Amino acid sequence: MHKVIAIYPGSFDPPTNGHLDLIDRGSKIFDELVVAILRNPDKAPLFNVSERAAMLEALTGHYNNVRVDTFDGLTVDYAVTVGASCVLRGIRALTDYEYELQMALMNRKLRPELETVFMMPAEKYSYLSSRLVREVAQLGGSVKGLVPELVEQNLKGKLDPAYKLSEFAESESQKSEARKSRGRRKKS
Ligand code: PNS
Repeated sequence: MHKVIAIYPGSFDPPTNGHLDLIDRGSKIFDELVVAILRNPDKAPLFNVSERAAMLEALTGHYNNVRVDTFDGLTVDYAVTVGASCVLRGIRALTDYEYELQMALMNRKLRPELETVFMMPAEKYSYLSSRLVREVAQLGGSVKGLVPELVEQNLKGKLDPAYKLSEFAESESQKSEARKSRGRRKKS
């Protein structure tokens, strides 16, 4: 039977609960969903592409029809390389619509056989964006409930030097404990 493969392209810097909500919805209607992270050399991202891919892989590992990949160049060209017939995009509010419509119609101009499918994330994520998450986290606000715990921890590690230091101190003290314990074992 003909398999419907969709790509879900984006920056995912960082992945939010809104992205995961959309991945969950997409996984239910497509046979295969490829979460495709744009490798964009023009942007200075908070998380590099490998970090974003690692987070998305960990967060979507329980789906057997979802995989994570990276791409550069045109989305429509990438879609061809993975045999996708659909592009999945989320629409949160009316403000998204104009940009998404432009992009969908440009993609249609470039490759008419590729369909764009819009899905709406849960209402509680309708104000959520990676940009706002980055801004709130960078200014010390809480992003609990807006991003998965793994992303929250990674944001802390990336942005809070005190958190990094305490993590470092903890791992150093664990190493020193392990050394002491090896020493004790040798003596006995
Ligand atoms: O998460 P984002 O930043 O809203 O994702 C935008 C993305 C990656 C979907 C868009 O910028 C894109 O498709 N870029 C690839 C280059 C391309 O195909 N440009 C023409 C789009 S009409």
